[in-house]
Amino acid sequence: MEIKSVMVVGAGQMGSGIAQVCAMAGYKVYLNDLTDELVEKGLNVIEKNLSRQVEKERMTEIEKANVVENLNRSTDLNDAEKVDIVIEAATENMEVKKEIFAKLDKIAPEHVILASNTSSLPITEIAAATTRPEKVIGMHFMNPVPVMRLIEIIRGLATADEVYKTVEAMAKTLGKVPVEVNDFPGFVSNRVLMPMINEAIYTLYESVATKEAIDEVMKLGMNHPMGPLTLADFIGLDTCLYIMETLHEGFGDDKYRPCPLLRKYVKAGWLGKKTGRGFYIYD
Ligand code: CAA
Repeated sequence: MEIKSVMVVGAGQMGSGIAQVCAMAGYKVYLNDLTDELVEKGLNVIEKNLSRQVEKERMTEIEKANVVENLNRSTDLNDAEKVDIVIEAATENMEVKKEIFAKLDKIAPEHVILASNTSSLPITEIAAATTRPEKVIGMHFMNPVPVMRLIEIIRGLATADEVYKTVEAMAKTLGKVPVEVNDFPGFVSNRVLMPMINEAIYTLYESVATKEAIDEVMKLGMNHPMGPLTLADFIGLDTCLYIMETLHEGFGDDKYRPCPLLRKYVKAGWLGKKTGRGFYIYD
């Protein structure tokens, strides 16, 4: 299977990053979202990132123009007719994803791979909403997508070997390192990361230390680039809570119980950097 063109569904933080790295690798990209405004917002973020590359002399104006030319606006899922792979990066909600995959399954030609960037939802269940479960796979990019090297590639129960190999090769073309993972709640990344973040929140909740102290311990003591509370703000506290709930429900083990303080912040609308306030306050 040869991939030449990609549709990215969802032009938010993750979707725009995915579209950027695909366009930079030379793929023809359709960046899709519900409205022109949302697509435009995603394209603006890409434009800013590319301009920074030009300023830093890592890219010429001509190279930037070539990348921009690879990017196409889309507000119609019917554009899935024109591509070889769709990478879905919409809201983390199973019903939304099932609806999108069922629609894409009807629109996209038979050879098209349907990938999801879900951070914890079961690929096998998303695949069951289609008539091509062998062509459904997880492609979990890390945030910020242009910077982070990993793509966790998740095999659903029915994912075909050929599809896995195609996606693995594509990840390498994007300049990323693919890692193979089977379909279990939270995969590897969030099964390990989120309980650590949740525990850091419990540590704050129990007044073991201040938020700054907790972050400092993990930054300086464990060489993490960001402390866990800063990282939680960066990921989004709603996303952190959603993933903890997926782990809690998926394994049924109390060790995954979301910290009440995390629930409280989410209820308050303190979702982290994107809302200007989480554990920290942002301008
Ligand atoms: N988009 C594009 N580029 C970005 C960026 C963004 N959102 N944020 C930072 N960068 C770039 C900067 O432009 C800078 O590039 P230059 O070398 O050209 O200057 C480079 O990254 C380093 O940035 P900074 O110097 O500003 O800051 P830093 O050294 O602290 O690095 C960071 C920033 C890369 C985000 C680093 O703090 C880091 O690695 N943090 C941890 C990130 C992480 O853990 N991500 C995984 C989150 S979990 C996830 O994604 C999965 C999930 O399902 C929830």
